Amino acid sequence: MKIQVKSSFNPTLKTDCLVVALKPAKKLSSQQSELNKVTGGLIARLQEAGEFDATKAQVSVTPAPAGLNAKKLVLIGTGDTKSLDSEEIRDLLTTLAKALKENKVNEVSFELSALIAKSDAAIVARQTIETLGDAAYQYVMQPKSVTGPKAAKEMKVTLCCTDRKQAAEAKKAAMIGDAINNGKTLAKDLGNMPGNVCTPSYLASQARKLSKSHGLKVKVLSEKDMSDLGMGSLLSVSKGSREPAKLIVMEYKGAKNKKEAPHALVGKGLTFDAGGISLKPSAKMDEMKYDMCGAASVFGAVVAAAELELPINVLGVVPSSENLPDGIANKPGDVVTSMSGQTIEILNTDAEGRLILCDALTYTERYKPQTVIDIATLTGAVIVALGHQTAGVMGNDQEVVDNLIAAGETSLDHAWQLPLKETYKKQLKSDYADLANIGGPSAGTITAGCFLSYFTEKFRWAHLDIAGTAWGGTAGKRATGRAVPALTQYLIDRC
Ligand code: BES
Ligand code: MN
Ligand code: ZN
Repeated sequence: MKIQVKSSFNPTLKTDCLVVALKPAKKLSSQQSELNKVTGGLIARLQEAGEFDATKAQVSVTPAPAGLNAKKLVLIGTGDTKSLDSEEIRDLLTTLAKALKENKVNEVSFELSALIAKSDAAIVARQTIETLGDAAYQYVMQPKSVTGPKAAKEMKVTLCCTDRKQAAEAKKAAMIGDAINNGKTLAKDLGNMPGNVCTPSYLASQARKLSKSHGLKVKVLSEKDMSDLGMGSLLSVSKGSREPAKLIVMEYKGAKNKKEAPHALVGKGLTFDAGGISLKPSAKMDEMKYDMCGAASVFGAVVAAAELELPINVLGVVPSSENLPDGIANKPGDVVTSMSGQTIEILNTDAEGRLILCDALTYTERYKPQTVIDIATLTGAVIVALGHQTAGVMGNDQEVVDNLIAAGETSLDHAWQLPLKETYKKQLKSDYADLANIGGPSAGTITAGCFLSYFTEKFRWAHLDIAGTAWGGTAGKRATGRAVPALTQYLIDRC
């Protein structure tokens, strides 16, 4: 997005579309009367005709408004409550962004002081950019079809503020919104891509591409490398697939001291999860192409951190594989040895995410990270518990968990903590190995977290289950780009 922030507002500026926020008032406010004056009484006429009374999120579009140098004038109502929280601001701006999309607006100027008065400039600026990005997002079919939708044109956005201080705040927030948006777009694209295009090797090639475009240090471990490291758990999952597994390692070094301990993000990159021998039912199995959205979130957050030039070091680790049935695939009852030396009895081959994550987490130890967050579409149970609205979070360090939850609140990418208590760990007892890979039908999200906790004892760690938030909900049958906002905010907050 091309973003410009101005410290004043000129109602006769030249633009394709002028958006003005207005609050309800019988008597016109100074802002309303100024606009009313230059448009020869348009606001008053719209009010009298009952066309626009500025209730919350009401949108009115006037083409070719007289007196202005805008091709369209869009009014957005703020409603008359004294304040609006950030969620309400986002909902209102989402309605506005959809209307702008319907009107094929590509260049737009905003005068939102009536909205800023009920919230603050940073929230409004950031959400303006993010909601525009979400509305404009267009998945371009892979492989490219002739009739399919084309990539959206880059939008040009001007935010008009009332003074320099407000403009500075808005600019900073808009830049964050833009970086998050770019990270989300990448994560959505990867999540929406079919499994035959987005394979572990494809993810590895994407990482190499990012290394060039964003100055990252990228390393890709092959199955041979992983075998030499003793990653018996990860490799047992990819055994049943013809696509070779990859362990992708990305380093962004923004800290002055290049040796400063990094914040590590470890993302599940299952490019297709059929369940393996414990085959999934066929309904909606196509959606299991999104089982790499943890990986996609890591890609997106690392890209956002690099674009924002955050002064910290970030490590992205992505274990990537397919999970398919095959003659040499994992079988229920198989016992494998993880890189940590702990043995695992695979009671259900569909609980494969934890099997690839555990070795990636052990591998992450060698980077001596300050904190580690793993992000995974790990359990269907988290959708039952929290729906598509909220991610599940657990960890071995309350401060890391709290920081992640706080980052989710700021970025409107919410997470809710579940209890990672000793008592649940009993469910992972195995007769044949140190651990079983499933904990029975109850508390599925928690026992998955418990499983990972056996591989995270050497660092401060939180686990984010995004099986619900990464896909669906208001986005429909599409990837959402979550948890890029929460992870990026988490990194910003560490600076
Ligand atoms: N990738 C799935 C979890 C999932 C389910 C993500 C639905 C998105 C939507 C994961 O690998 C899985 O299959 N988990 C099992 C665990 C069970 C076998 C203990 C599940 O949730 O059913
Ligand atoms: Mn599975
Ligand atoms: Zn899975």
